[in-house]
Amino acid sequence: MEFQKVVESRRSIRKYDPNQKVTRAQVEEMIQAAMLAPTWKNSQTARYYCVISEEMIEKMRSECLPSFNAKNSMGAGALIVTAFVRDISGYERTGEPSNELGNGWGIYDLGLANENLLLKAEEMGLGTLVMGIRDVKRLREFLKIPKNETLVSVIAVGHAAAAPKMPARKTLEDVAVFL
Ligand SMILES: Cc1cc2nc3c(=O)[nH]c(=O)nc-3n(C[C@H](O)[C@H](O)[C@H](O)COP(=O)(O)O)c2cc1C
Repeated sequence: MEFQKVVESRRSIRKYDPNQKVTRAQVEEMIQAAMLAPTWKNSQTARYYCVISEEMIEKMRSECLPSFNAKNSMGAGALIVTAFVRDISGYERTGEPSNELGNGWGIYDLGLANENLLLKAEEMGLGTLVMGIRDVKRLREFLKIPKNETLVSVIAVGHAAAAPKMPARKTLEDVAVFL
């Protein structure tokens, strides 16, 4: 699919077809695309916890997501928890932050990678939903995520059962300044 079309057609999907599965190979392909994103000094600190078993998805939706996101992700064939290893991206070898953003750079890197993942899914005909509202403590316990990793988002992946319209965007003038 042409790049511009992929970027324009990606939408946050909140209704999935439970009868169409997502395979491990598809999730791997999406993560391979995420791994091609640039990172601070090539530090590659993004980590992905991929829940693909139906039983675990149900448990995670009911126990680690608020009810509205549990509903939004109903029928998704995979839930990907995204995290990054702290104190590396944006940090010197001495352990000092390179500048005022500190671990903000780890989140920046993860966001760049995750957009690749979302766009790859779109190209593959899969829908996604990034969820920032989630129970981090329960997710960490449930997936045994190590303490040195910051847990960021949960991304639902599945076959879209609705075609939502694009929420309005600001204008170019609202967001860009040319000097
Ligand atoms: C960091 C982040 C967190 C988000 N968290 C949620 C969420 O918890 N629940 C939800 O339904 N949508 C969530 N969204 C989806 C946004 O609402 C959505 O991206 C935005 O409205 C624009 O719509 P679009 O993705 O279809 O372009 C999140 C998106 C991002 C990037």
